[in-house]
Amino acid sequence: MATVLVTWATRYGSTEEVAHAIADDLLRQRFAVNAQPITGVGALERYGAVVLGFPLYMGRMHKDARRFLTAHWSELSQRPVALFVLGPFHADEKEFAVSRNQLSKELAKFPWFHPVAQEVIGGRFDPQKLDFPFSFLPALRKVPASDARDWDAIHAWAANLAPALQHASSR
Ligand SMILES: Cc1cc2nc3c(=O)[nH]c(=O)nc-3n(C[C@H](O)[C@H](O)[C@H](O)COP(=O)(O)O)c2cc1C
Repeated sequence: MATVLVTWATRYGSTEEVAHAIADDLLRQRFAVNAQPITGVGALERYGAVVLGFPLYMGRMHKDARRFLTAHWSELSQRPVALFVLGPFHADEKEFAVSRNQLSKELAKFPWFHPVAQEVIGGRFDPQKLDFPFSFLPALRKVPASDARDWDAIHAWAANLAPALQHASSR
């Protein structure tokens, strides 16, 4: 029975929390799900579909996601992949447009990659958590904390994933 892999890259944990919420939603839809951090993922053979999440940093995809796409391009080309990407600090359409544009530029570096579903999700920012090198940017430390993750929208996205992941078998 094919399983859906839900995997994520993260620096400060907000993408991981979203990934777990999506994995739980898929379980409730009776998919067999394996949720694990991107750095621990080996061969993709046993997975019928993949849900991949990563955050944007300085206009770029998280480096672990870049490595994952590079390492697994052949397997990822052969199964449906749904993509969610965290970024905007606020529920502001202009911020979302910037992030979507950054994502497009990043994905253009992987022309073989055609996600069956793709969503930019608001991110979380906490100046107290910044570590090197971001902690050395005084302007960033003054940005107020925010959490723009829209959980209703996240659950709605997960609820509509089933047809896109159709090659993965349901239990
Ligand atoms: C130093 C820094 C730079 C960031 N750069 C971008 C960016 O260029 N584009 C964007 O959409 N979001 C950017 N973000 C927002 C993150 O993607 C967002 O905070 C996300 O929720 C972080 O995910 P994580 O907690 O899983 O690491 C940045 C955040 C930080 C702290």
